[in-house]
Amino acid sequence: MTASDGRLVGDLARAIDESDFAWSLVLVGEDQRDKLAALTGDLLGKPSSNGDGKQITSGYAYWGIGPTIAWAHACADPFYLVMKQSLDSFTRRWGRVRGRIGEGFHHVSFGVGTGHKDRLILEHLLERNPGLLYLPVDMSSEMLRLGTQEATHRVGLRGHRVVPVQLDFSITDNLAELRQLVHRLVGDEPVLYSLLGNTLANFDHDDELLANLTALVRPQDLFLLEVATTEALSDDLARDAVEEYARSRAYREFVTSALLHNTDLTINVDAVQFRGSVEGDRALKVKVVYQNQTGDDILMMLPDRTRVAFPDRDTIRLYLTRKYARKALDPIVRAAGMRKVTGTHSDFAVPRSAQGFGMDLLLLAPGEPVPAPRPDDDVARVIWEN
Ligand SMILES: C[S@@+](CC[C@H](N)C(=O)[O-])C[C@H]1O[C@@H](n2cnc3c(N)ncnc32)[C@H](O)[C@@H]1O
Repeated sequence: MTASDGRLVGDLARAIDESDFAWSLVLVGEDQRDKLAALTGDLLGKPSSNGDGKQITSGYAYWGIGPTIAWAHACADPFYLVMKQSLDSFTRRWGRVRGRIGEGFHHVSFGVGTGHKDRLILEHLLERNPGLLYLPVDMSSEMLRLGTQEATHRVGLRGHRVVPVQLDFSITDNLAELRQLVHRLVGDEPVLYSLLGNTLANFDHDDELLANLTALVRPQDLFLLEVATTEALSDDLARDAVEEYARSRAYREFVTSALLHNTDLTINVDAVQFRGSVEGDRALKVKVVYQNQTGDDILMMLPDRTRVAFPDRDTIRLYLTRKYARKALDPIVRAAGMRKVTGTHSDFAVPRSAQGFGMDLLLLAPGEPVPAPRPDDDVARVIWEN
């Protein structure tokens, strides 16, 4: 890099910092035409009455300005319990784990959303590292703009210390590039990565995603993971989990917004269906599907003018979510090559929610857990040492 290149970067940083206009610099990692092609491919799936053919995968549910606004509305809906509870109780849960995070951390946030939680994290980290760099990573540039503004508003973080990255973090090659970028920017200084708001539960291969994301974590770094949990697994509880999502109209509007903005379908929110099941010994799983209930085979058009057949009774899977069995969290964390440093749990203290549903916030570090001494070991050691 030449001296004048260096000046340009410095001038740009100063121009952003000194302007009252809300500039944001975004690093765009992928060609958005490729993303559209991938979405089109996902909507070409075979007919299925239970959401196993056509689908909108996680990042696409939030992609674009319509879904971003619909998401912000859903988060404010008191009937969308998982998100409401996750946002309301985050201050308390974060307060219980943040003491384990030392000095000098930067922050990389996977999936910024509305930015409310990142703001609390930044406030804490900034007190211990005034030179903090904040990298929110999201597939939706509109979500990045919305979330980053909320996260950084009046927290005292200068504009050029914020580096929003538009990237699909479910693609392994993207993570390899992100890893290089982050390490070049922070050097050996520690990073707190986060994946909050039960985002992990939205991916078919959630175990693989967690392993790929946590592979960025070096020995000096930490990873904050927030998931929705259940004390027990049963078909009845899967039905209760379904109820939780089904009762929010704002949530139905959010899940259909990707269809509204990327197809010419006339959306009927009553055609949104929720299918609950038990996923082995690890989670309650909820598939949200949109079913063609018009009685006719129809054609839907995508933004690139591709026409896709949508036969009567066929479905499009709009969203996937889970509530993880609390017992399964340790094995899930271990399988990703991580260990729990500390964690906190909060129950849904609301009458409409099933017993045993809640949120867990886990602070993870790389490596094997140090095995806790068993009572027998202590006895053996006392005998041996005497
Ligand atoms: C459930 S919201 C969680 C938001 C926030 N972390 C919270 O806890 O309130 C998921 C966020 O992750 C983003 N996202 C989902 N899948 C993604 C992907 N594959 N790549 C990048 N961002 C993704 C969405 O755009 C959205 O901002």
